[in-house]
Amino acid sequence: ELSYPFYGDHQAGISTPPQDHLVFMSFDMTSKSATDLQLVLAKWSAAMAQMCAGQTVGSAEPAREQAVPVDTGEAVGMGPQGLTLTLGFGPSLFDERFGLAKFKPALLKDLPAMAGESLQAGYTGGDLCIQACAYDPQVAYHAVRNLARMARTQVKTRWTVLGFGRASAGANQSTPRNLMGFKDGTRNITQAEDMDQHVWIADSDQDWMVGGSYLVARKIHMLIETWDADQIGDQHTVFGRSKEEGAPLTGKAEHDVPDFAAKGSDGATIIAADSHVALAAHENNGGVKLLRRGYNFTDGIDDVGRLDAGLFFLSFQKDPEQFIKLQSKLGASDRLNEYIRHVGSALFAVPPGLPEAGKYFGQEFF
Ligand code: HEM
Repeated sequence: ELSYPFYGDHQAGISTPPQDHLVFMSFDMTSKSATDLQLVLAKWSAAMAQMCAGQTVGSAEPAREQAVPVDTGEAVGMGPQGLTLTLGFGPSLFDERFGLAKFKPALLKDLPAMAGESLQAGYTGGDLCIQACAYDPQVAYHAVRNLARMARTQVKTRWTVLGFGRASAGANQSTPRNLMGFKDGTRNITQAEDMDQHVWIADSDQDWMVGGSYLVARKIHMLIETWDADQIGDQHTVFGRSKEEGAPLTGKAEHDVPDFAAKGSDGATIIAADSHVALAAHENNGGVKLLRRGYNFTDGIDDVGRLDAGLFFLSFQKDPEQFIKLQSKLGASDRLNEYIRHVGSALFAVPPGLPEAGKYFGQEFF
């Protein structure tokens, strides 16, 4: 039975090879009491450890007929299914309500407005978030549901995304496809030295952030009907890669290194300068990389019957500026923009892992 340790230097669910399913939820504190926040974080930390080990968070079937079950029960007997639960703190958690301003990392602030966005308040921000990933969707759902339930008098849900297929690859994983039919995650961070250089925080104005990271969440809607009517030649140009193999247009195999300078007989670069990969590649961005860990999502159909689906883009980086730098370029000139809309956005500070049972996230704040 696949399970990942909950305790460790870093939270699980970041360098963990992406599991097949995701439930992401953003929450707001309804209580303004710092003690209530402390209580929620302590209860969540203990419950997260139990659920990642495949245990219930209390009895699903108490002996006394009058008792209300503590665990909701729908994951009983299913095992851990590689569950990881990753907690983040939004910038708003450090406002005046809880007296935590002195613990706010300087880098934790709302992302600036960027070109190409049509953000909806209903998919944006949050005081807290939980990223639940597992090989079974019900196990991931159960975890988020039980965390929400045990904090119901202090915390309310803000927005959620259900991811039904990973759209990124970790080390030794085959590359999956996003809903545009292209392999996604081919040139992702997979090496430990890249994680140290680009993802894990080693220095911060806040000691509690060392070993942590920043999580950017972007709900990106795809204009599926428009994409599905596009010619394959244009689809290749949009990404700068072939569709089935996923090879750069300057190569033959998926993992061939793209040559952004190579020119065709017409004198133009073979990989268009405004293709998605040319704009996003580290070679063209002063070495900037981030760890992508996104999922495909669908919300069914919209009110005129169009498919309502896209990419729930999740990235981890040691400085939000890594994302801002890439997205500012993509938002301004990416050929892909004709087929996508960024509708949701959030930034969270992801604290390091907990060393052992009895410790809880945010313990340093109280
Ligand atoms: C690469 C799709 C949004 C950053 C790729 C690739 C695809 C893809 C198919 C090529 C395969 C690969 O190397 O993974 C998409 C789609 C998006 C989207 C469908 C939106 C719906 C974003 C955003 C960012 C981003 C918002 C960051 C701000 C990157 C990076 C690469 C990449 C850094 C690797 C480029 C390289 O080094 O060659 N994406 N992407 N993508 N994407 Fe995206």
